[in-house]
Amino acid sequence: MSDYKFIAGDKKWWRQAVVYQIYPRSFADLNGDGIGDLAGIIDRVPYLKSLSIDAVWLSPFYPSELADGGYDVADYRNVDPRIGTLEEFDKLIEELHKVEIRVFVDIVPNHSSDQHEWFQAALKAGRGSPERERYIFHDGLGENGDIRPSELISHFGPTGWTRVTEPDGTPGQWYLHLFAPEQPDFNWDNQEVRADFIETLRFWSDRGVDGFRIDVAHALTKDFSDGLPARETMDIDPKKPDGSDPLFDRDEVHEIYREWRKVFNEYDPPRVAVAEASAPAHRLGAYASEETLGQAFNFDLLHADWDTKRFKQLISNSMKRAEKSGSSNTWVLSNHDVVRHPTRYGLPDKTDLVKWYISEGKSAPLDAKQGIDRARASTMLILALPGSTYLYQGEELGLFEVADTPREAMQDPQWFRNPGKSRSRDGCRIPLPWAISGSSFGFGPGGSHLPQPADFGKYSVAANEADPNSVLNLYRTAIAMRKGLQCAEEIKFIFNWNRNVLHFARPNGWQSFTNFGKSPVKLPTGKVLLSSQPLVGSQVPGETTVWIQA
Ligand code: NOJ
Ligand code: CA
Repeated sequence: MSDYKFIAGDKKWWRQAVVYQIYPRSFADLNGDGIGDLAGIIDRVPYLKSLSIDAVWLSPFYPSELADGGYDVADYRNVDPRIGTLEEFDKLIEELHKVEIRVFVDIVPNHSSDQHEWFQAALKAGRGSPERERYIFHDGLGENGDIRPSELISHFGPTGWTRVTEPDGTPGQWYLHLFAPEQPDFNWDNQEVRADFIETLRFWSDRGVDGFRIDVAHALTKDFSDGLPARETMDIDPKKPDGSDPLFDRDEVHEIYREWRKVFNEYDPPRVAVAEASAPAHRLGAYASEETLGQAFNFDLLHADWDTKRFKQLISNSMKRAEKSGSSNTWVLSNHDVVRHPTRYGLPDKTDLVKWYISEGKSAPLDAKQGIDRARASTMLILALPGSTYLYQGEELGLFEVADTPREAMQDPQWFRNPGKSRSRDGCRIPLPWAISGSSFGFGPGGSHLPQPADFGKYSVAANEADPNSVLNLYRTAIAMRKGLQCAEEIKFIFNWNRNVLHFARPNGWQSFTNFGKSPVKLPTGKVLLSSQPLVGSQVPGETTVWIQA
């Protein structure tokens, strides 16, 4: 079991942590079967350490039929044999803790895989059985029950209900799935479901896991007392912003998280959690309270245009929210669900990303230099803000979204289930390039489960390491420097006549100055600590962030 010396007594480590998200199947493949594995992550612990990050978050590595990239979990307390073993997991925790990197794992409580033993048991046990009570089964409408129970669209398209075949071979009941049909939703009114997740949280906490990322945290409790829900849209936002939507962000969901908090607090230091919740801003604080999960993702930046006013506004809003909830801010530019931010920033404003993806990147021109300049500047900007920064593997290499993955190689259900209407998230899940050339660019000695573009070598770790001005070297320097500069969770905006400038100071005099415009602007006084682009005399070039010590 892991060595806890480095975290003894530090109960607040998560408040201003840099957390690096690993998508295990695409990180590093040690045994050459084309799928990233735990042994591959263990092998790259020195690389992770070189980033000076505080924690890694592992996206699901559990047994899964991969109907949704592992977010369809068949066994919550095990490792997919294609990825590794529990012994390797223990070893990974041990190696990461040795270099003072903590570990988050992903908990997927809204739905399991249809291969989960409980769902299989529910299918066998038939109508009205306690086994079916753990999920959400209903009879269909119409004389033969062959009309779905309600007009509900799932997040991945056409329907949120799937009909099963009963044990006697006849067409039977329907079950609800907010995502793919292979992801049946749990019934959180069922006490066995509640108890089982508590067991899962203890299982990983006992193995030394430090924190949990909670998938679709706002969807667990549902209330159908006014009838089964009908929805015509694929989003997963509550239609009512007051806790009374039948599917999302209901007030009762926090009863579950209060129970979980008791479990987290049994450990020293207490285990932490971050909610992935699609709830109105004024309701996110309930997930981030110290009585519930403690922190919630702020995804505003994933949709924000490159615009000074917009950035300033969402930073101010987030600061106010954090103060109110007692939690810390969270900053995210990329993750495994969205178009990588150098691509977002390199495409013309208001580009329709779905159309762009469907056209294999041909519907709008990508300005790669602009994308990378803005990505470098925005990373330094968010690293200077109070709170946690969540990074996604590959952003430190300056990776762009891959839009021209051969269509027959696609894996994402969002792509298949909505022909012509959705983008595939495979474009940000391409296995990482570690080497300039060779087998799968150093991802592993075999192939790669998603094809890598021919020019991937130029973004590799090796290519980045060879260039002192690379994105990787900027990340390494900035994250290490931030550690030494960290201070109270406050900022003061500094007025600048130029509306393209976003300038703020932390209480210790550490300042961040971003020029959102294209033309250079005058550098303020102070000692320059780091700049996302070389300064030109006393001018800050366009699309650049500079850190200054006043
Ligand atoms: C959010 C995850 O980030 C995403 O990848 C997944 O498809 C859905 N939740 C469903 O679990
Ligand atoms: Ca492998």
